[in-house]
Amino acid sequence: MSFLTNKKVLVTAGPTYEPIDPVRFIGNRSSGKMGYAIAEELTKQGAEVILVSGPVSLAINNSKIKIINVETAAEMYDACHAHFKACDIAIMTAAVADYTVAEPSAIKIKKKESTLTLDLIKTKDILKSLGEIKSTKQILVGFALETNNEEANALEKLKKKNLDFIVLNSLQDKGAGFQHDTNKVSILDKYNKMTKFELKAKAAVAKDIVAYLKPFV
Ligand code: CTP
Repeated sequence: MSFLTNKKVLVTAGPTYEPIDPVRFIGNRSSGKMGYAIAEELTKQGAEVILVSGPVSLAINNSKIKIINVETAAEMYDACHAHFKACDIAIMTAAVADYTVAEPSAIKIKKKESTLTLDLIKTKDILKSLGEIKSTKQILVGFALETNNEEANALEKLKKKNLDFIVLNSLQDKGAGFQHDTNKVSILDKYNKMTKFELKAKAAVAKDIVAYLKPFV
């Protein structure tokens, strides 16, 4: 028996795409690799995973992982809220768009003017909304991707979003963050403990993150 046997875990991964018109979108450079690696590692420890994934070019073939494909931040929000209550743990690795296009065009926008202005509105913060409804038995883990003031920003997110721990990666570290096969992370937890990990393959980082759940389960 592994420590996650019979545990249900919700994982988000990848970017979201916010449509501008039928052919264009606002997206980001998330590859989904970190979230998919965590999902795989969770199943090795006995968990059943619901993976809510934005558009990525990764394939998964694991009967313990149920994939729900979404595109937009709003769709990701709905999928997470549909499943969170039945889960013991949620790990939000997705790079969710902070803003979406207020009124996407139903038809392709033609290039008429020399400038184009898009009105953007804030998306709902999925992680924060789960932090507001989580029970004392549920474990909530977030990610923070920072370029400056890393630890202070991550700590603020940990508190603001009611997390058990947050995984910080800095874009200043070589080989860390988007698109890479490696990552270098630190974990800050609600007991004010901080653990720094070495640069390693994302599968190995996933192992560290999943192992960190143990005392919280
Ligand atoms: N997140 C989320 N829903 C959003 C935005 C972020 O669930 N609409 C989650 C991410 O999956 C990640 C964490 O929140 O686990 C941190 O996301 P980040 O974008 O770094 O934080 P923000 O709170 O959006 O702050 P900022 O962009 O201003 O740094």
